[in-house]
Amino acid sequence: MKAMILKSAGGIENLAVEEIPVPVIGDHEVLVKVAAISVNPVDATLRRNDDFLRLVLHLQKGEVPVILGWDISGVVEATGRAVTRLRKGDEVFGMVNFTGHGKAYAEYVAAREDQLAIKPSQVTHPEAAAATLAALTAWQTLVHLSGVKAGDKVLIHSAAGGVGHYAVQIARQLGAYVIGTSSAANRDFVLGLGAHEHIDYAAQRFEDLVRDADLVVDSIRDILHLERSLEAVKTRGKLISLVTFPDERLSRKALMGRKFLYRMEVASDGEDMRAIAGLLEKGQLRSHISATYRFDQIPLAHQQLESGHTKGKLVITL
Ligand SMILES: NC(=O)c1ccc[n+]([C@@H]2O[C@H](COP(=O)([O-])OP(=O)(O)OC[C@H]3O[C@@H](n4cnc5c(N)ncnc54)[C@H](OP(=O)(O)O)[C@@H]3O)[C@@H](O)[C@H]2O)c1
Repeated sequence: MKAMILKSAGGIENLAVEEIPVPVIGDHEVLVKVAAISVNPVDATLRRNDDFLRLVLHLQKGEVPVILGWDISGVVEATGRAVTRLRKGDEVFGMVNFTGHGKAYAEYVAAREDQLAIKPSQVTHPEAAAATLAALTAWQTLVHLSGVKAGDKVLIHSAAGGVGHYAVQIARQLGAYVIGTSSAANRDFVLGLGAHEHIDYAAQRFEDLVRDADLVVDSIRDILHLERSLEAVKTRGKLISLVTFPDERLSRKALMGRKFLYRMEVASDGEDMRAIAGLLEKGQLRSHISATYRFDQIPLAHQQLESGHTKGKLVITL
């Protein structure tokens, strides 16, 4: 089968298509013939940074080949001996083995049965592949970590991005009052997702406009931005950071202001995948795909990810 191998950490030129054996599945795994893959900013971060790559992929010393990616949608080709729920021919999607070596940039992927959901029939493989890591992050942040409830005021940064565009839709489904930030160019897109209000981060200081949020979801790599987000949270409200690790000073500031400050880490979870499948099936959640690439164009998709201005999701089709 063909796989996109990362020869060593570095630039996009270190990604190369190679022929490698089809993975052997374990008892609890299924072999998925991949129809679509989605990419995420973390893929590009790992590609560049050897220490981070080894840490997140749980790589053993000298382990090859290294294959990035976790997000797939495809068809079950074979099932392990202990698999009970899935059958050959099922259309499935999910985030495989995060954190860990998901090896999703490939024609065939070995995936644990309990990390996959059945793809709703009216949702395409690209739409399903998109609604994996990014949608799970939004779901786990809003539902598990924050417990958002009807009437809560929720400020979502990067509302036009992969995570943000799912977070806006899910927060609306939960009955929240949603405010999203993006550039002016994405204003209509963010409002079209269901946000009640839009803030143009280049023209307005969000913390001057919002001081009483029950929840702020921050996905900007900047400790000063995180500190500004804390200003927007009300007493006993929550600030969830997807990227920046709060330092001691900021943690103390949150404590003194009686605000909760957490760093979120998404994790593979079949039950959450099935919840997302349910929203997709009912049309309550939609994937916005701004660009689709061929398998050999994955390096180009990485270049776009690194722009920091992707609208919705980028998908690879096989
Ligand atoms: N901790 C976790 O578990 C976890 C999980 C998933 C993702 N993440 C991280 O979360 C971040 C976001 O992920 P993603 O997939 O959503 O990324 P993404 O799709 O690349 O986000 C791009 C979006 O960010 C917006 N943006 C850029 N600067 C902004 C600013 N100052 N204020 C508001 N919006 C801004 C852009 O909007 P404009 O083009 O309009 O500027 C663009 O739509 C990444 O760093 C990712 O690694 C963490």
